[in-house]
Amino acid sequence: MTRKITLVPGDGIGPEITQAVKTIFAAAHAQIEWEEIDVGLQSYELSGNLIPETFITSIKTNKVALKGPTTTPVGGGHRSINVTIRQQFDLYANIRPLKSLPGVPSKFDNIDIIIVRENSEDLYKGIEYKVSEGVAQGIKLITSAASERIGHHAFKLARKMQRKKVTVVHKANIMKYTDGLFLESIRRISSQYSDIELTEMIIDNCCMQLVLRPEQFDVIVTENLYGDILSDLVAGLVGGLGFAAGSNIGETNAIFEAAHGSAPDIANKGIANPTAMLLSGCMLLDHIDQDIVAQRVRKALFQTLKDPNSRTKDINGTLGTAEFAEQIVKNL
Ligand code: NAI
Repeated sequence: MTRKITLVPGDGIGPEITQAVKTIFAAAHAQIEWEEIDVGLQSYELSGNLIPETFITSIKTNKVALKGPTTTPVGGGHRSINVTIRQQFDLYANIRPLKSLPGVPSKFDNIDIIIVRENSEDLYKGIEYKVSEGVAQGIKLITSAASERIGHHAFKLARKMQRKKVTVVHKANIMKYTDGLFLESIRRISSQYSDIELTEMIIDNCCMQLVLRPEQFDVIVTENLYGDILSDLVAGLVGGLGFAAGSNIGETNAIFEAAHGSAPDIANKGIANPTAMLLSGCMLLDHIDQDIVAQRVRKALFQTLKDPNSRTKDINGTLGTAEFAEQIVKNL
C-alpha cells in the first residue's frame, strides 16, 4: 500500500541529497507518495514563516517525514527549526546508528554503535537569557520522567536489535543534581531489563574511549547535548558526517534526518554525499514496514561504496551527488 510521507528538502545541501533519495526510492519501487513542503529559509522567504502551518498539518496527517537539514544562525537570529519541531511533536528519542561501512575509508572497521540521545530537554530547552552586561545564564533542565522514558527506549531498542549492553554517558560527578538525576533514572529502570548489561561512563572519558577502543560500545544512552556531540565524533570514526543517519521518534510521529547539517561550504556544488540521507530514508522504510525495499537499497548502496571508482568527493572519490545516486540505481 502506498504511504504518503512528508518530505522537507531543507536548505544548503538539503535539496541535492533529498533529490538523490527520491530518485533511488523511485527506482527501488518504494511505495511512497511524497508530500513536499518547504520549511526554513525558503518558507520564510515565501510566507514569512519558518515552520509553516502546512508542515504541521502534514506531519499530523502523515505521521512520518523525511527531512533535509535546515540552517540555524550562530549566536543570534531565529531558534533552531529542528529543536522547535522536535519539542513541538515531542520527538523525544534521537536514534543514530553508526556503523563501519564496507569500502568506506575510516580509522576503524569494526564500529557498530547506536547512540540514543534524549531529544526534548537539557540545555536545548532554550531557557537562556542575559542577566546583565557581560553576564548570561542558561538553564539545564533534566526530569526523571524524560530520563526514564529515554532509558526505556534505549533498553527496548537494545533488545529489539539483539544488543547486549547499554552504556549511560553522563557528567554526574560535576552536575550532581541534573546529570545525577539522569543517571539515577537510568539505573532505576535498568532493573527491568536484566538481560541487558548496564555500564556507566563519564562523558570526557567516553570521548577518549571512543577514539581509542570504539568496539567496546554497543548502545549509548545519553543527554541531549552529549548525544549531539558524540554522534558527530563517532560519525568521524566511520568515515565522516556523510555517513551518519538518524531518526527522531515520538509516540505518534517520526521524522528521519541525517545527523549532519546544511553544509553551506559545499552547497549548490552537486558534490554532497547523500549516504546519510539515504540511510535515514532506509530507517524510514523499516519504520513503515517496507523493510524489503530498504534492504535492497542498502545492498545497492554498499555495493556502490565498495567500488573505489564510484564514491563521492568527501571520501576521495570523483562522483557528484547525482552521479553517485545513478550508480546506486544501476546496482539495485
Ligand atoms: P555540517 O554538518 O553542515 O557540516 C560540517 C562539515 O561536514 C562541513 O565541512 C561539511 O561540508 C561536511 N558535510 C556535512 N554533510 C556532508 C555531506 N552529506 N557530504 C559531504 N560533506 C558533508 O555542520 P555545520 O557546518 O556546523 O552546520 C551548518 C548548518 O547546519 C548550521 O546552520 C547548523 O545549525 C545546521 N545544522 C542543521 C542540522 C539539521 O538540520 N538536522 C544538524 C546540524 C547542523
